[in-house]
Amino acid sequence: MRIIVAPYAGFCFGVERALKIVENVVQHSKLPVYTWGPLIHNKMVVERLQNEYEVIPIEEFDHPPGYLILRTHGVPPDVVDEAKRNKFIVVDATCPFVAKVHRYAKLLTDEGYTVVIAGDKLHPEVRATLGYVGAYAYVVGDRKAASLLPECKKIGVVAQTTMLMDVYKEIISVLVTKCDELKIFNTICSATIRRQEAGIKLANNVDVMLVVGDRQSANTRRLTDIMKQVNPRTYQVEGPEEVDPSWFNNTKRVGVTGGASTPNWLIDKVIDKVKSFRQ
Ligand code: F3S
Repeated sequence: MRIIVAPYAGFCFGVERALKIVENVVQHSKLPVYTWGPLIHNKMVVERLQNEYEVIPIEEFDHPPGYLILRTHGVPPDVVDEAKRNKFIVVDATCPFVAKVHRYAKLLTDEGYTVVIAGDKLHPEVRATLGYVGAYAYVVGDRKAASLLPECKKIGVVAQTTMLMDVYKEIISVLVTKCDELKIFNTICSATIRRQEAGIKLANNVDVMLVVGDRQSANTRRLTDIMKQVNPRTYQVEGPEEVDPSWFNNTKRVGVTGGASTPNWLIDKVIDKVKSFRQ
């Protein structure tokens, strides 16, 4: 059985950067270090940060003040204001691609556009973006949701960084019928697109495809959905303990990829587990 790892599997630039920021703060601080919610969507990494560096995810300011690191998905600006009022020192680890979505959304609001965010309204990144646009914004996840929006004079659109390009295009094709003027920003993260494309190529050429990553991670779940469309023998696992030997009956080639918040050491552990089943 041959095991092939897809290019771009694992940590993206934004996650690597956030982890370096945390390490740097921990090394130079004598104060407690917190993150606003989990730094990234991977339980094992968040647990490691807590156990090895005592970095605690919080969602209330009921802790002694210290450093507050803003997660890769960003936070609404009122959280930053409240942190400062509570004497926390704010360190911004928001991924620059996510920060770009916030900037564009604010710009559209300032220019008088009704803002539409293409994405999942429950995702922290979208909730953070909503904080920059006030009450006059809509969140739509697909073409159908877009078709229910009222007509407006000027619509401005941004996308959640991990939105599928095809779905974004469908949403835009509906919005263009709803207004006189449509302003669109392409805010889909290129790292996400590259990972998806590399995964599709590999999934087409293997018997079984494994996607390693946390089920909380939207980009990992989406990666799994895309791989399943190409290769029905696709399985998502959070770690090696979830790998099932029965998946590999009559298998010559196994492909492996991982979401943007999946560490390489975890991908390696999953690969070791698959190797232990080699006939
Ligand atoms: Fe940033 Fe893209 Fe990663 S938005 S956090 S580089 S998946």
